[in-house]
Amino acid sequence: MSFTPSKPIKRVTVHTLEELKQRGEKISMLTAYDYSLAKIVDDANIDVILVGDSASNVMAGHETTLPITLDQMIYHASSVIRAVKRALVVVDLPFGSYQGNSKEALLSSIRIMKESGAHAIKLEGGEEVIESVKRIISAGVPVMGHLGLTPQSIYKFGTYSVRAVEKEEADKLIRDAQLLQDAGCFAIVLEKIPAELAHQVTDMLKIPVIGIGAGANVDGQVLVLHDMLGINKDFTPRFMRRYLNLYDQIKSGVEHYIADVKAKDFPNSNEQY
Ligand code: KIV
Repeated sequence: MSFTPSKPIKRVTVHTLEELKQRGEKISMLTAYDYSLAKIVDDANIDVILVGDSASNVMAGHETTLPITLDQMIYHASSVIRAVKRALVVVDLPFGSYQGNSKEALLSSIRIMKESGAHAIKLEGGEEVIESVKRIISAGVPVMGHLGLTPQSIYKFGTYSVRAVEKEEADKLIRDAQLLQDAGCFAIVLEKIPAELAHQVTDMLKIPVIGIGAGANVDGQVLVLHDMLGINKDFTPRFMRRYLNLYDQIKSGVEHYIADVKAKDFPNSNEQY
């Protein structure tokens, strides 16, 4: 099954996303961290590829997103960029590369843009990081915000449960979303918050709102590629839809290969020189 866009897009830019919101066409976004999978995702006509700091979990096996470094994010982003012809590529500023001060945030963003060739950066937080957001944007780097469940603050929250359920936190999220738009962000991600709140923020903002676990009434959706393809079987939140079961398919392929090697069936006479 494939989707034919109402107006074919040669190259997705931040302005394309704004246009998609205006004409009510949903924005599709997935993560990718390497050349081979980014190429498939881009060839499938995804709108946005996020080189997420979830690479820390998915690619490196860490428990949280905190350990991944700026150098490692640049390595992943460069690999993705080499594969992509159409999608907008957004790269996460990793934990510790922007929270200190706005100058550090700008220098980290410049390194990502210069060394990987990415098109935009994403960072977590609202009011606390607003000076950094303004400084990065003033240097010409597009910024995507990220509110709600912000995994870089996991040790502050204590759990990965739904955020902004209480009024005080929901009110702060609404204020932060407005601040990010006013500071010049081109879009924001809302992660794991009540669908009604995400709907309200989406109606309030002119910029696109991309949801993950934020319900249907947002401008677009993002998922972690390895989760939705079923490469990672352990992560099963309610918002996740699995499109394939690649863990079992890859395992079965590898088992088949091992059996063929052991049985001296591979290689056969046509598979040698
Ligand atoms: O790092 C990531 O994959 C993300 C998405 C969950 C939005 O930030």
